[in-house]
Amino acid sequence: MRILSVANQKGGCGKTTVAVNLASALARRGRRVLVVDNDPQGHASMALGVGSKDFSLSTRDFYLTSDIYVEDARIEVGPRLHVVPSDIDLSSVEAALQHEPRKLQRLSERLAVSETPYDVVLIDNPPNVGVLTFNALMASREVVVPVDPGKFSLDAVGRLRETLDLLTLERGHRVTLQLVASGFDLRTRYAREILAALDELYPGDRLRTLIHHTVRLREAAAAGRAIDDFDEGSRGAVDFAALAEELDGRGADIGDVDASTWSRLLSGGRARGPGVEFIAEFPRAKRVAITGDFTGWSVEGEPMELISDGRWRLEVPVPAGCYEYKYIVDGVWKVDPENPERVRNSYGQLNSIIVVPAADDAS
Ligand SMILES: Nc1ncnc2c1ncn2[C@@H]1O[C@H](COP(=O)(O)OP(=O)(O)OP(=O)(O)O)[C@@H](O)[C@H]1O
Ligand SMILES: [Mg+2]
Repeated sequence: MRILSVANQKGGCGKTTVAVNLASALARRGRRVLVVDNDPQGHASMALGVGSKDFSLSTRDFYLTSDIYVEDARIEVGPRLHVVPSDIDLSSVEAALQHEPRKLQRLSERLAVSETPYDVVLIDNPPNVGVLTFNALMASREVVVPVDPGKFSLDAVGRLRETLDLLTLERGHRVTLQLVASGFDLRTRYAREILAALDELYPGDRLRTLIHHTVRLREAAAAGRAIDDFDEGSRGAVDFAALAEELDGRGADIGDVDASTWSRLLSGGRARGPGVEFIAEFPRAKRVAITGDFTGWSVEGEPMELISDGRWRLEVPVPAGCYEYKYIVDGVWKVDPENPERVRNSYGQLNSIIVVPAADDAS
């Protein structure tokens, strides 16, 4: 899993635009991509068509609770493309974690226990370096830094570079800088000068693809769609396809889970005939069981069978109806990571839910 932060203290330089459209372009190239919206403005979520009313779990829960997983909070926004959304509630995190130990490792710990084999995780960040951005940088090996042709852009890159040096010095954590010229119109002399200055100050750190200034990118964001979906042949779509190709070329550590495994991973429990076949992927687990309405919520659950590396299976013969359930993975109760259908139980926690149709309805 390749984890990249998109960061720059300078506001409005194109971070969210790069995070969202690069993610979509990478997904089009066949990569399985997760966007983590790590900004209380929630712009990445909105740019992918997800508003506050569409979710109950968010990036905020990664920081403040230890039993929310990527699989609990993510929302599918396109083929191979998921987002963990956020909104203004994320702004409470900084104060809430003030005296917490390991407060800069929260995001990295959540991503490390994700069971889904993403190829790329892109974290969109707010325009400052506080607890949220530090968490993202600690989780990442690479940082993509959009640089717009604005007055303070070069200063901002300099300050981010200092932050990265600090991380290396004080925490031994090294993050590779990758600059992206974003919102450029090379017909202007000023834009050409900024580009030349960037290459002089940071030789070799700039990705060669240039994201041009185009109003279609703004319109796509306002419509809640990535540019390659909004206007496939547009300049913006072409630029981001090229950026995805360039980054892919530089990438190490790309997983090779085949497409059928991926689609199965996303399917979870499946109603079939008189019952449900549950297949779950928990590669590091030693014992997996399932509990729910059909086991009377027994604490030990019905043990599942390990059928191949990391895949667990159990067929539960139940009549037609609607059932709530959870997996018990090495003693830890978890919602089904692959089943987006969830309800809140009377303890305020989430249960997965599956509907078994009557035999006549079964397809
Ligand atoms: N290449 C581009 N061409 C035209 N408009 C762009 C381009 N990139 C970004 N924009 C627009 O500029 C504005 C700011 O971009 P964006 O939200 O991506 O910046 P940001 O760095 O994420 O901002 P913030 O610091 O507030 O998070 C948005 O309206 C966006 O649509
Ligand atoms: Mg933004």
